[in-house]
Amino acid sequence: MLRSKDLLGLRGTSAEEIHEILNTAELMKVVIASNNKKTPHLQGKSIITVFYENSTRTRMSFELACKYMSGTASNISASSSSVAKGETLIDTARTLDVMGTDIMILRHPMSGAPHLMAKSVKAAVINAGDGVNEHPTQALLDMFTMREKLGGIKGLRVAIIGDVTHSRVARSNIYGLTAMGASVAVSGPPTMLPPDLGSLGIDVVGSADDAVRDADVVMGLRIQLERQKKGLFPSIREYRRFFGLTEERIALARRGALVMHPGPVNRGVEITTEVADSRESVIDEQVTNGVAVRMALLFLLTRQKPEVGGIKV
Ligand code: CP
Repeated sequence: MLRSKDLLGLRGTSAEEIHEILNTAELMKVVIASNNKKTPHLQGKSIITVFYENSTRTRMSFELACKYMSGTASNISASSSSVAKGETLIDTARTLDVMGTDIMILRHPMSGAPHLMAKSVKAAVINAGDGVNEHPTQALLDMFTMREKLGGIKGLRVAIIGDVTHSRVARSNIYGLTAMGASVAVSGPPTMLPPDLGSLGIDVVGSADDAVRDADVVMGLRIQLERQKKGLFPSIREYRRFFGLTEERIALARRGALVMHPGPVNRGVEITTEVADSRESVIDEQVTNGVAVRMALLFLLTRQKPEVGGIKV
């Protein structure tokens, strides 16, 4: 049973909770692989994806996950809603709440926005990415993929390479992986490594080659140009040379190591096309597993709904 009504981040989430989510996702993956992608688990439940930033994978996988479980899935985006008329996040959230929404899934450019929303509504809130803070469902699907492909997470060496400062994916993976007993090495240009990294129980490594050497998993991060106020690296060519996932760099990892990337991919920048499409790459599996993990979360968060007058609602 998850401890909170919401999933706002993996900071402070226990290994037991992560195991429960991943075990449930394993069952959900069987449904996705079958000819009849339909279960009754969300019958009578409704979810709304509330996205103030663009998305392909996260938003669509939540919507599909809901539909595969017979729930009602709706979406609003900032540009097509009353947000464009100046409505606040809290007023928007309360409006959706009194319509009877069971789960709100929020992506927002401000770190902490889902936490604010969760305090204002009865519905469960899932963080689908808040600013540079966390993207917990991405890290869960990453860990699911590692566990599925490598048999477990404890004891793995995971190298995370790139723009860590702006990466909510990196932050959630660091929290989740360390809770699960993996060791994490991060590397990136000094301008893209936040100063607090040392306190997170991970290795900060100057050279990407050293971080990748003997790793079981190599995760490239997207260069987030939309969050950079000024140029943080001299040129794309130099970035690729020192921090890009190239065939030469991946060859330093352990034999059979996984290559991961949360997407969308800037081909030829943080990862070459050859590596992104290589046998070692599990980028497509990450996307498939995203649906299973989100099905698991929708299931677990609706299952623990409180009782009213002794009757389960
Ligand atoms: N990985 C990820 O969050 O992708 P989207 O922006 O397409 O949702």
